[in-house]
Amino acid sequence: MDGISVQTGGQATISPQTCRAWEDAHSVGMYAKRDIVLVRGEGATVWDGAGRAYLDCTAGVGVANVGHANAAVADAVSRQARLLVTCHGMFYNDARARLLKQLADIAPPGIDRFFLCNSGSEAVEGALKFARMATGRSEVVAMVRGFHGKTFGALSATWEAKYREPFEPLVPGFRHVPLNDAAVLAEAVSERTAAVLLEIIQGEGGIRPASAEFLEAARRLCDERGALLIVDEVQTGLGRTGSWFACQGMGLRPDLVTMAKALGGGLAMGAVGVGPRVENLQRLTHTTTFGGAPIACAAASAVIAEVRRLDLLRHAAEAGGAFIDRLRVLNLRKVREVRGRGLMVGVELRQKAGPFLLPLAERGVLAMLAGNLVLRFLPPLVISEAELERVAAALEEVLHA
Ligand SMILES: Cc1ncc(COP(=O)(O)O)c(C=O)c1O
Repeated sequence: MDGISVQTGGQATISPQTCRAWEDAHSVGMYAKRDIVLVRGEGATVWDGAGRAYLDCTAGVGVANVGHANAAVADAVSRQARLLVTCHGMFYNDARARLLKQLADIAPPGIDRFFLCNSGSEAVEGALKFARMATGRSEVVAMVRGFHGKTFGALSATWEAKYREPFEPLVPGFRHVPLNDAAVLAEAVSERTAAVLLEIIQGEGGIRPASAEFLEAARRLCDERGALLIVDEVQTGLGRTGSWFACQGMGLRPDLVTMAKALGGGLAMGAVGVGPRVENLQRLTHTTTFGGAPIACAAASAVIAEVRRLDLLRHAAEAGGAFIDRLRVLNLRKVREVRGRGLMVGVELRQKAGPFLLPLAERGVLAMLAGNLVLRFLPPLVISEAELERVAAALEEVLHA
């Protein structure tokens, strides 16, 4: 076949030019592409087809928490692939049982039953349906700048108009209130509200943390008015902010929690965790062929074990905290604010952030945007202090240029 160049040592099997040409010709083109062909990763580093290394502060958008090509995850996946890849939820399975027990051990207090699925959007869909079923109500209060995915239910909860409007009419009954405005939330939550849905730190919305007072008000209003509190931890979960789930760091007890991204160590996996108020879930009303597949469960079990073995909660909190402090003294002429917790970090600029991505990549750092003004850093949690210093130095350089 044209363009094939077989290489050794885990390199790409097609040339970068062919790779670009085939993706451009044969994908529907939903992604704004950068002109980089990534072919390999290890720890916090990824390499392009020409052998150029980058510190990866995208981590697949917060997926590779335990590092690229993590050996324990790779071993668990290959072992399970030779044992049993698939096992529908109609049967019991040892890999799934082990993961469910591990999830119950790390989840926020009271969350001890899980629905396993395949993505963040699917976890949000599940949480919304469970909340409606448990309460018999249909309204949902979500947040301005919240992001929950792009399937129809999740998209109805997502705030950004440019994602929503092309697909209206969406699911009815959703409204958005400003994050951190408890008075407006109090007006919005009623006896018709099935759930309040929020992120502890808004990811796509610009790395915007919910305040402790707002979270406390959300919990109280849900209790008073019989609504359920769904915390979307798809981006914040699995150690990203220095605790297993960001709500634990805030002392918040949700009724439902969604997770995905880092959970499967790179394999597609999501989950909804539910607490004691989520009752009356009727059999077969929400199912999935692939959810809870042994191969994904084995990967997720290895991810949880690796976070423990490498002490990544502490590392994310300490190294992330130092990184944030370091960034706070950067060029104040260009930087409006540095926000975040652990290794979920946003640098809001006084000008568009997009033009800084290429200069950063030229200095060996891959970062992302979170809205027009915010540079977002979600490195693998295994990134070292020395590597974070290289990221900070590269950012300092491009901001001064
Ligand atoms: C908080 C949050 N929820 C849900 C999603 C959707 O997840 P997925 O892209 O896996 O469907 C995302 C994705 O970025 C997210 O950040």
